[in-house]
Amino acid sequence: MTIENTAELTGFAKLGIIGPLLKTTAAAGFDQPKPIQAEAIPSLLDGLDVLAIAQTGSGKTAAFSLPILTKIIGLGTKRLPKTARALILAPTRELAVQIEDTIRVLTKGLHVSTALVLGGVSRFSQVKKMAPGVDVLIATPGRLTDLVREGEVNLSDTRFLVLDEADRMLDMGFIHDVKRLAKATHKDRQTALFSATMPEEIAALAEGVMKKPVRIEVAPQGTTAAEIKQSVVLARTKQKRKILSTMLADEAMRQVMVFARTKHGADRVTRDLERDGFEAAVIHGNKSQNARQKALNGFRDGSVRILVATDIAARGIDVPGISHVINFDLPDEAESYVHRIGRTGRNGADGTAITLCDPAENAKLRQVEKIIRMKLPVAADHLGEPDPQSAPRAPGARAPMEAANDRAAPRGEKQQRPQGQKPSRNGFGKKQAAGENGGDKPMSRKPFRGKRKGFGGRKPATRAA
Ligand SMILES: Nc1ncnc2c1ncn2[C@@H]1O[C@H](COP(=O)(O)OP(=O)(O)OP(=O)(O)O)[C@@H](O)[C@H]1O
Ligand SMILES: [Mg+2]
Repeated sequence: MTIENTAELTGFAKLGIIGPLLKTTAAAGFDQPKPIQAEAIPSLLDGLDVLAIAQTGSGKTAAFSLPILTKIIGLGTKRLPKTARALILAPTRELAVQIEDTIRVLTKGLHVSTALVLGGVSRFSQVKKMAPGVDVLIATPGRLTDLVREGEVNLSDTRFLVLDEADRMLDMGFIHDVKRLAKATHKDRQTALFSATMPEEIAALAEGVMKKPVRIEVAPQGTTAAEIKQSVVLARTKQKRKILSTMLADEAMRQVMVFARTKHGADRVTRDLERDGFEAAVIHGNKSQNARQKALNGFRDGSVRILVATDIAARGIDVPGISHVINFDLPDEAESYVHRIGRTGRNGADGTAITLCDPAENAKLRQVEKIIRMKLPVAADHLGEPDPQSAPRAPGARAPMEAANDRAAPRGEKQQRPQGQKPSRNGFGKKQAAGENGGDKPMSRKPFRGKRKGFGGRKPATRAA
């Protein structure tokens, strides 16, 4: 097939994507550009800075990857040691891994080199991979900050910077590292910010890392994917376990993600499900990176039907088979709701999202409804049912869920940097407050809202990502 034929087939050629990528894009099954791709690709190819908003599952990854790759291919393989031509930052390790996988698919056979820099795993292989220089570096900010500080990565030749899940990358947990990393890149770099949500205060911060950005909005920020059928089940916290197990007994729930607000909560939901006869995997920031990736891989390959997760897995994760998302409880940040439920109903597929809401969570539910700009229908109301607490407890039965303290440092994910750190370089000498806490921080933290003072004041327990 000639390139021209492929171009007609895919429509990506019209946007300016070059021949070799048209083939890989078609091979990946991308027949036509998605709206965000049609809108963002030409601007990025024009060299503009872009702030792009589009719903979950709408193809943002290829929207930023394809134009960058178009620009990089053709630059040849001569690279400076330890440098990266493009840097893509993501808030969690699993998302960084997934983005690299996507880019590998899109560059199959094209001699584009990629590297991953993320916490929780050995730095040795990362340093080695970076040594000759790479085309595209995908990283979480914490570990990358360390490697830049130690002189193992040099961003001075990085002319493309992407912040995926940009509002998350610019809130308090990440902003210091992200700003410093941005500053370490080439002064003429092009910057692209992508997310499904972008609170106004964060959008204002975004201006600081971009030059005259164009704002591309396929749908207003916070818009949920139209394919997701959303509803609320009113229930007291102590009723939720039974309600969840009853729901999951329905085999129509083919592949389910259950979100809990805290790590302890996620562990408890998982244990209760197992006691009720369900097999479930769990993913949260207190787990080792191996266990996290294993749980996600099992879910991805279909061997795990139920994945219980904290908000660590709320953003970006693309598992096409997820039929249902259940919010065991409301998230602390309303934006997380949009991302959580966006794990289903991706790329045109159907999806169902059910939120279990205790009366004490009503305020959070209202917040969610405000940002998604719609009222969620009540599918069931269990509040009038007898209080299971007043019945005598069966031997061995468990107390209802208590509030969990999620601020504690993740076990086994202590500071990765070896003792006797090297002296500073590139202005990366001062160890600052931001940290990723295994990518799990947002659960115990409000997003940055407005006031800039006191930004650097909080010391993280760890930096693990
Ligand atoms: N042009 C296309 N044609 C067909 N499928 C596509 C196309 N572009 C992307 N996809 C597929 O759509 C799915 C969702 O894409 P992606 O993960 O980039 O969404 P996203 O917008 O980044 O979502 P999120 O906000 O949850 O991160 C992926 O499985 C991807 O392979
Ligand atoms: Mg994404």
